Amino acid sequence: MSDELRTVWWENAAVCLIDQRRLPHEQIILHCTELESVAHAIKSMQVRGAPAIGCTAAYGMALVAQKSAATSADALLDELAAAKDVLDAQRPTAVNLAWATRRMLAYGQGLAAAGVAAVREGVLNEAHTILAEDLAMCHAIGRHGAELIPERGHVLTHCNAGGLATAGYGTALAPIRTAFNDGHAVHVFVDETRPFLQGARLTAWELQQAGIPLTLITDNMAGFMMRRGEIDCVIVGADRIVANGDVANKIGTYSVAVLAQAHGLPFYVAAPSSTIDLSLAHGDLIPIEERSSEEVTHLAGVAIAPEGVTAAHPAFDVTPHTLVTAIITERGVVYPPFADGLRAIVSGS
Ligand code: MRU
Repeated sequence: MSDELRTVWWENAAVCLIDQRRLPHEQIILHCTELESVAHAIKSMQVRGAPAIGCTAAYGMALVAQKSAATSADALLDELAAAKDVLDAQRPTAVNLAWATRRMLAYGQGLAAAGVAAVREGVLNEAHTILAEDLAMCHAIGRHGAELIPERGHVLTHCNAGGLATAGYGTALAPIRTAFNDGHAVHVFVDETRPFLQGARLTAWELQQAGIPLTLITDNMAGFMMRRGEIDCVIVGADRIVANGDVANKIGTYSVAVLAQAHGLPFYVAAPSSTIDLSLAHGDLIPIEERSSEEVTHLAGVAIAPEGVTAAHPAFDVTPHTLVTAIITERGVVYPPFADGLRAIVSGS
């Protein structure tokens, strides 16, 4: 994706999004003017990807502040706290969502003494700051991660951790983009990523737009490709990285990590510090979003399973830290054992 094509932005008193359910065939822009439509966009995955939903939720709170008729800072902060609860409930696994809404509320609380107008204006500026920081973090991840991408080689990625999943440029795709721009002869194998097909629809599209060579594969081809020696490393994004380095990411990531270890391949995770959650000791504590079974039994609205069949749909899985070679953040690359390194990244030291 070019840097110009935006994922989420503020325009004419609305939260604007590119509808990711319609990509790659249609580029439809959504204009959300109610908290409910922002919440719906997150839940229905019109916007998706951990950092992107964090930025969207921040603008959702800014929207509430702009529309509020509150005449005191305390009343406005109560509305913002209620909006935070609504937004946080939409998708439980991506920690960036609650991270962004917590930051927005705290920022508003810090301005309470200055009055309701200051809170209203301040939270909109804070949403702009969160978006700008996310874009800068993605570029920094690209710079740190590019040195891990082979000068000439094949990289496998799962789901979409590209510009669409962030304010722009991406997390897992950032090192690939930077390495490519630096002259690496990199070729990307893209897992289609059942059931929502983020790989086939979004990652393939982004890489194509950027002119980066790619081959789309179904998820069950990855092991065979590795065995044939066609893959040199794996790089994925994350929805939550906990204190010991366990990583929640799109369902299917764990299988890829097991395969990578079995074939002696590096398995890299790229994520901004806003994805790190030190409050959880290990990955079994991460809430895993369960989505509707219809997203599995149907493809683009067409039933592919017999009527009445029950399908499981955990939307994420957890990759144990023992399968992770390194975690690439905007503040540098963390290697095992992860606990100390992640603490240092979060504290900024
Ligand atoms: O369900 P999604 O599409 O929101 O899941 C997205 C992922 O799993 C991404 O890999 C993750 O959010 C990182 S995005 C930079």
